[in-house]
Amino acid sequence: MRIFVAGATGVVGRVLIPQLIAAGHQVSGISRSSAGMAGLRHQGATAFQGDVFDRDALKQIVVEAAPDVVMQQLTDLSTADSEATDTVRRLGTRNLVEAAKNAGVQRIVAQSLAFGYAPGDAPADESAPLDRDAEEQRRGMVEGVEALEETAAELRDAVLLRYGVLYGPGTWYAPDGPAAAALAGDPAASFLGSVEANDSVVSFVHVRDAARAAVDALEWPSGPVNITDDEPAAAREWVPVYAASLGLPAPRPTSGKLDWARGATNTLARSRGWQPEFPSWRTGFAAQLS
Ligand SMILES: NC(=O)c1ccc[n+]([C@@H]2O[C@H](COP(=O)([O-])OP(=O)(O)OC[C@H]3O[C@@H](n4cnc5c(N)ncnc54)[C@H](OP(=O)(O)O)[C@@H]3O)[C@@H](O)[C@H]2O)c1
Repeated sequence: MRIFVAGATGVVGRVLIPQLIAAGHQVSGISRSSAGMAGLRHQGATAFQGDVFDRDALKQIVVEAAPDVVMQQLTDLSTADSEATDTVRRLGTRNLVEAAKNAGVQRIVAQSLAFGYAPGDAPADESAPLDRDAEEQRRGMVEGVEALEETAAELRDAVLLRYGVLYGPGTWYAPDGPAAAALAGDPAASFLGSVEANDSVVSFVHVRDAARAAVDALEWPSGPVNITDDEPAAAREWVPVYAASLGLPAPRPTSGKLDWARGATNTLARSRGWQPEFPSWRTGFAAQLS
């Protein structure tokens, strides 16, 4: 297939491009920078320079790329700027979907997230409602994700990959990332705050498994699907393992949790044949160092 990737140079995109090429697809991608384009070419993809906020230019690019499928792996999170990411999810997805329609593309695979569900006692499956009553900043994120999913679903086929918290190279949880720095007590990492070993439950997914799901999703039916590992876990369980993987002391366990922090199940993705290389953060964190 011919695949056009927006977000091709991000933490998932960088891993996804070689996986798509290895699976025999012809891949093109967009980046705003010359360095991003050079990286894409080096990986064997066709590179276009452009900004997804430039609607008309994006239309021309997608016509030229002539894909069978567009992929949306866009965020703007390198400085944890949630407002910028809300905008790229809303407007970037809108422009990408309009460009796809204009080019006669009927299928999209888009990056959503698995921690936007309303509070609940157990990890959420895809039928759980989104957290539309959340406090303001979280509600902005949830609404941005909902807009992304609804816009993508205007195409005939739309697979919405609800990723858990990403870890692996280039992520916040990489050994050189801000979570590791926060655990080590580096104030420069402050945008993530502290890493607390409390009762909040999270579902992780390694970037290689997130990318593999996007490749697999080329053949999946439309709709949302959680892409999370097998082991949703409270911070008091995963933080000590994460700290040990970095050779750092674990913070003292604390009580309390964010009410929405419940994790998500991957039964649907697994039923479609997705097999994570890292079924648990227990082995995945340690593998970040190898
Ligand atoms: N589920 C999760 O936990 C989750 C999901 C996503 C990201 N994150 C975290 O966020 C951090 C940053 O992510 P990242 O490295 O992927 O970087 P990023 O800065 O969020 O960029 C991601 C991708 O979006 C593209 N992009 C953004 N705005 C664009 C625009 N206006 N036009 C065209 N392309 C645009 C970027 O392309 P160019 O810059 O090349 O133009 C890049 O390919 C990481 O630490 C990651 O762990 C977490």
